[in-house]
Amino acid sequence: MTKPDPTPSIQRRPSDDDVLLTLRGVVKHYPIKHGIIFKTEIGRVRAVDGVELTVRRGETLGLVGETGCGKSTLARCITRLFPLTAGSIVFDGQDISRLSRRELRPYRRQVQMIFQDPYGSLNPRRRIGSIIGDPFAIHGVADGAERKRRVQELMELVGLNPEHYNRFPADFSGGQRQRIGVARALALRPKLIVCDEPVSALDVSIQAQIINLLEGLQDEFNLTYVFIAHDLSVVEHVSDRVAVMYLGKIVELADRDQLYGQPRHPYTNALLLAGSIADPDRARARRRIILTGDVPSPVDPPSGCRFHPRCPKAQQLCFDTEPQLQPEPGDPVEHATACHFPVAPGEDLTVLTPGIGSAVDQPTEG
Ligand SMILES: Nc1ncnc2c1ncn2[C@@H]1O[C@H](COP(=O)(O)OP(=O)(O)OP(=O)(O)O)[C@@H](O)[C@H]1O
Ligand code: SF4
Ligand SMILES: [Mg+2]
Repeated sequence: MTKPDPTPSIQRRPSDDDVLLTLRGVVKHYPIKHGIIFKTEIGRVRAVDGVELTVRRGETLGLVGETGCGKSTLARCITRLFPLTAGSIVFDGQDISRLSRRELRPYRRQVQMIFQDPYGSLNPRRRIGSIIGDPFAIHGVADGAERKRRVQELMELVGLNPEHYNRFPADFSGGQRQRIGVARALALRPKLIVCDEPVSALDVSIQAQIINLLEGLQDEFNLTYVFIAHDLSVVEHVSDRVAVMYLGKIVELADRDQLYGQPRHPYTNALLLAGSIADPDRARARRRIILTGDVPSPVDPPSGCRFHPRCPKAQQLCFDTEPQLQPEPGDPVEHATACHFPVAPGEDLTVLTPGIGSAVDQPTEG
């Protein structure tokens, strides 16, 4: 959502000054426990499993991937809603990955989150003036008449009528409730907002209004967004760069036009083509790779490349060795792909569809 840059961003590496957020080897595992009294750990959900990512000042970084691939968990890692299992997060030059709850307070002012569900995230028994004013109360920023003035200013900013200060969430439509969420996120003038499916629960016409609002606010306050969505066309519309996530890892990262125009990872190809089923012309042409099978369990992810059981290009190397996220020869330096056999320009994966995974010699039992 940034203004066009005369120097194409894919031609240059970001300097430290450009980078707002850096994730290095970020891991979040949820323990699976068994037993009522002596709870023993019997496994782990590897929801986020070694994520490398940078987010630049003023950009919108889109994050896409199938359900359960770890997008929301990664969002919670960034906002430090829980401790990381491993890895580091550097925000504006400061490592925030090991800070205590108290030490995190200044960070919490600078990084906010907008959630998918504008119904569930608002307490129905509280007036919206008080809900939007929460960040002021929590951080002791303003109170009394000053707080009310600031809240009403925020309401106006996000397109709500300030006179509705004393109404309850039930008095507002879905789109208006998401505006309440945006106002609350904006209260402390954060630098980064992590938007976790902010428009997924809204009608298409309302989605456009909320996206326009977010774009306008980004320009006005020089905000940086991490924007998570299922809808690939929404992500294409809002993002400067896009990261594709699969089973806890980033498998491809590129400038938006580069990623949508020349996807290199077979999973990105499959996602984009599956997404285009909504387009009747493309669907009629039946040129799509079908993402066969379920996403494997993050409790016991596949060896080597985690996509190998579903990949039409899988070979033995994919089964044995995990590919690293890196630029492929000929690609712009900032287009990184984690694949041993990336998709070549013009390569048609649909002809390989029936052979998904069949090129791999699966180990035999016993
Ligand atoms: N609190 C938790 N305890 C245990 N497992 C969890 C917890 N939260 C998420 N998971 C698991 O971690 C994995 C990643 O979940 P996450 O919600 O991060 O995915 P997601 O990409 O946001 O999915 P969706 O697109 O459906 O929102 C899933 O297998 C999920 O079941
Ligand atoms: S070709 Fe191999 S490394 Fe690349 S996505 Fe397919 S299975 Fe993974
Ligand atoms: Mg989610």
